[in-house]
Amino acid sequence: MSEALAPSATRVGHAGLRQRLMSAEAAAELIPPGAHVGMSGFTGAGYPKQVPQALAARIARENDAGRPFRIGLWTGASTAPELDGALARVNGVEMRLPYQSDPTSRKRINAGEMEYTDIHLSHVAQYVWFGFFGPLDVAVVEVAGVLPDGRLIPSSSVGNNKTWLDQAKTVILEVNRRQPLALEGMHDIYYGTERPPHRRPIPMVRPDERIGEPYLRVDLDKVIAVVETDLPDRMSQFAEPDAVSQAIAGHLIDFLQHEVKMGRLGPALLPLQSGVGNIANAVLAGLNQGPFENLNAYTEVLQDGMLAMLKSGKLASASATALSLSPEANAEFEREIEFYRQRIVLRPQEISNHPELIRRMGLIAMNAMIEADIYGNVNSTHVMGSSIMNGIGGSGDFARNAYLSIFMTPSVAKDGHISCIVPMVSHVDHTEHDVQIIVTEHGLADLRGLSPKERAALVIGRCAHPDYRPLLQDYFERARRGGAGQHTPHLLDEALSWHGRYLKRGDMRP
Ligand code: COA
Repeated sequence: MSEALAPSATRVGHAGLRQRLMSAEAAAELIPPGAHVGMSGFTGAGYPKQVPQALAARIARENDAGRPFRIGLWTGASTAPELDGALARVNGVEMRLPYQSDPTSRKRINAGEMEYTDIHLSHVAQYVWFGFFGPLDVAVVEVAGVLPDGRLIPSSSVGNNKTWLDQAKTVILEVNRRQPLALEGMHDIYYGTERPPHRRPIPMVRPDERIGEPYLRVDLDKVIAVVETDLPDRMSQFAEPDAVSQAIAGHLIDFLQHEVKMGRLGPALLPLQSGVGNIANAVLAGLNQGPFENLNAYTEVLQDGMLAMLKSGKLASASATALSLSPEANAEFEREIEFYRQRIVLRPQEISNHPELIRRMGLIAMNAMIEADIYGNVNSTHVMGSSIMNGIGGSGDFARNAYLSIFMTPSVAKDGHISCIVPMVSHVDHTEHDVQIIVTEHGLADLRGLSPKERAALVIGRCAHPDYRPLLQDYFERARRGGAGQHTPHLLDEALSWHGRYLKRGDMRP
């Protein structure tokens, strides 16, 4: 823990920056209408908690006065009601990127009132360096403290903060004293990335390796405001694993055991990547009870299941860009933070999700999805083809480059009215070329090396819900008889009518 900060009442250790302390309201006044604003925050961790709300209040006042005020909002990934929710409520976001999961934002986007660019999370930082999104005007970044020399102790997520601080014309810091100072030393900020054609290999071969420095750098002349806060992260609760998620976990663990038996994986597997949500958490709970020891994780988000695996010793180390813990898990994390600091590395998302590193280390990527089709194309983002749920997040970074690319879902949604296995996905995020394994509570389909027709037989037979299996089988057989081509047989008119049936009548069955 930083001795320079510990005895002080303020965590702003730099004398010059203490001169720039102000209220969140005063800081929000410094954000111009129309600005591109890069805010910290990743899966509900490490987001600024007061300036966005003060900005939302200002936007509401401006709107009331007939002066429309909107910003471009860029983050690491999803944030919280105090950020995405507050700004979406006042319709203050013109363009959102690269990922959100906020109900109010989702509503605005699906009503056509907010634009959204859904981007692979590893791409965001470099697209900003390349100038693809135009200039970044303001960065609003939460940190856990400022050292006397001006270096910043990162907060509970790193996300794109390095890039925001580097690229923004002006910077507003929120220094949150609720974040443990003992986070200091957990982060690894790599400053070696270059633009093409000057790129060099990223010097990392193991998931627990440190290749950077524990602090974020900022040009102090750009810091226009410092706001002190004392507020917790969002901290969502996870559902207890139910029969469906336990069955999915069971199939997955059997499959991994089979891979070990076949000599395609060692007994410690390969570094694990786990998506967000309840199913992913249930799979981790299954692995915590499972036969594998001395595992490592190279992932994007560290949630409760991984913390439990670190505690039990099943997991030797975990690398991520953010914590995303329930209140109970967070209490455990803070109690035993010295233990976890030895085992957790938090990195910028361009490194946690970097295709080069994912391919080199050979990850086992396990992500949830909305639906898959019988040929192995996966939709992670859209409901009924045109409404966004959250976004692709890191799933594409991992699935495309992993050693094993696994997608999981319950076989049905909405009380069985929707089959999550369909003839043709209504939106494609991961093509048949990037999807190797599909798992539902009914079974697992290993699609490696199979032709489309072989894949279809397996997906229908192993993964579809018994209520939908005959319908899918019938579709497949008719497509084989009457389709225009026999490589990937389809009856195009009928393929998407499945979704149309749900939209018209509330059920996918005819
Ligand atoms: N059609 C329509 N709706 C569906 C559906 C389908 N085939 N499958 C699920 N849904 C609905 C559910 O009913 C639920 O709706 P509700 O919120 O109204 O209850 C919602 O989608 C979420 O489904 P749930 O089963 O609770 O899944 P989840 O919380 O595990 O989330 C994803 C699944 C795919 C939405 C989520 O994992 C995601 O956003 N993934 C993309 C990003 C990603 O993979 N990130 C990790 C990479 S590191």
